[in-house]
Amino acid sequence: MSSADVKLQINGQAYTVNTEPRKLLSDVIREECGLTGTHVGCEHGVCGACTVLLDGRPARSCLVFAIQCEGMPITTIEAMAQDGKLTTLQQALHEEHGLQCGFCTPGILITLDSYLAENPHPSEDEIREALSGNLCRCTGYRNIIRAER
Ligand code: FES
Ligand code: FES
Repeated sequence: MSSADVKLQINGQAYTVNTEPRKLLSDVIREECGLTGTHVGCEHGVCGACTVLLDGRPARSCLVFAIQCEGMPITTIEAMAQDGKLTTLQQALHEEHGLQCGFCTPGILITLDSYLAENPHPSEDEIREALSGNLCRCTGYRNIIRAER
C-alpha cells in the first residue's frame, strides 16, 4: 500500500510522518512519533488504554486512522507532567497506590483529568461511571477511586 505524509499536532508539537493511510492513530503515536506513553491493549475500542485527547475530548486512538486526525489537536499522557513534576491527579494516584502494572494508567489519567475539569467534585458513583470505559486488571478500582476523592 502506498504511503502518505500525515501531519499531526501532538502536545503542541508538529509531526509529519510518512505512513500508510490504514495506520491507526495509536500506532502512529507510538511507532512514528515515539510517544509510547499511550498504551495499546485490545486494539478494538474496549479497554481504554489508548485514550488520548482528540480535539480536547477523550478518544480511543485505536479507533481512528491517523490521517483522519490531521488538523485536530492531540494530547497524550506525555503532556501531563511538566518538567518532571506530577500533576495533582498523578500524585494522588501514586499516593493511593492506584496503579500496579501501570498499563491502564495513561488512559485512566487522560479520561479522569478531562472529566474532573468539567466535574471537579464528583461522587463515587460518578467517578465509577466516568471510568467505566477504562479497564484495569490489577487494582480493582478501589485505590484509583480513592485518589479522585
Ligand atoms: S487499545 Fe484502544 S480501546 Fe483498547
Ligand atoms: S494497573 Fe495494571 S491494568 Fe491497571
